[in-house]
Amino acid sequence: MNEPSAYEQLASEYYAQGCNRTCQAFRQGSEVIVRELVNISEYTSVVEVGAGRSFAAPLMEEAGKPLSDLLISDISSGMLEWSQEWSNKGAKLTVCPADTLPLRKRSVSLIISLLGDPYNTPSFWEEVNRVLIPGGHILFTVPAYEWTQAFREGNEAVFTMKDESQVAVPSTVLDFEAQCKLVGNAGLTLRQQRNFTKGELENNLSQKFAQLSDDDPIVNGYLFRKPSRVISLWTRR
Ligand SMILES: C[S@@+](CC[C@H](N)C(=O)[O-])C[C@H]1O[C@@H](n2cnc3c(N)ncnc32)[C@H](O)[C@@H]1O
Repeated sequence: MNEPSAYEQLASEYYAQGCNRTCQAFRQGSEVIVRELVNISEYTSVVEVGAGRSFAAPLMEEAGKPLSDLLISDISSGMLEWSQEWSNKGAKLTVCPADTLPLRKRSVSLIISLLGDPYNTPSFWEEVNRVLIPGGHILFTVPAYEWTQAFREGNEAVFTMKDESQVAVPSTVLDFEAQCKLVGNAGLTLRQQRNFTKGELENNLSQKFAQLSDDDPIVNGYLFRKPSRVISLWTRR
């Protein structure tokens, strides 16, 4: 049996009022990036990976899209609980790892992965390439590389809980070139990149951003595309 994700320990506090101000700021940045880089009305089948509290669902509702076109997934049942309300409105919810999606190949037109650093691995990107239709997109955000360099050691993020205990979770944040190389190795190409900076935050309550200037990025966002199939036409002379 697989070990439970360390996110199960964080789940009850992750979105609770007054908790995790840094995560709230990352989430705000991710949402701005999604709205700028993706027009959800253009997509017919959408999957949100590592969703926690779904952002794709309210976005689709706002755009008047049927929620039956949406699959909300997460490895942690506790984190997915934050999206439960959307199942009553037609969205499908499933607990599964990001690199083993219960989907046919070439069946999805858009994947949304906000703060996807816990599963930013070759096997995840290969899975993205498997399930996307040719011409499909993935919107992917991570805490900014520059910020993580100052705050973290190794591929781990540490959360402090209300009772002051600490929980470590996996986190792979790469610089721009390394991220594009990882995704490129799985066959996808970069369409757009957008950094969200500290100066764009509505409220800046996190002490962890105190050392940053307003121009420093706190979230890196990427829109990658699976190329359409190339049909080569050979003409005979
Ligand atoms: C940093 S949180 C972000 C949650 C949400 N996307 C947001 O922006 O608020 C990362 C999420 O990824 C999930 N997760 C962690 N490892 C995963 C994996 N291997 N496969 C799928 N989901 C995973 C966690 O349970 C958690 O909900």
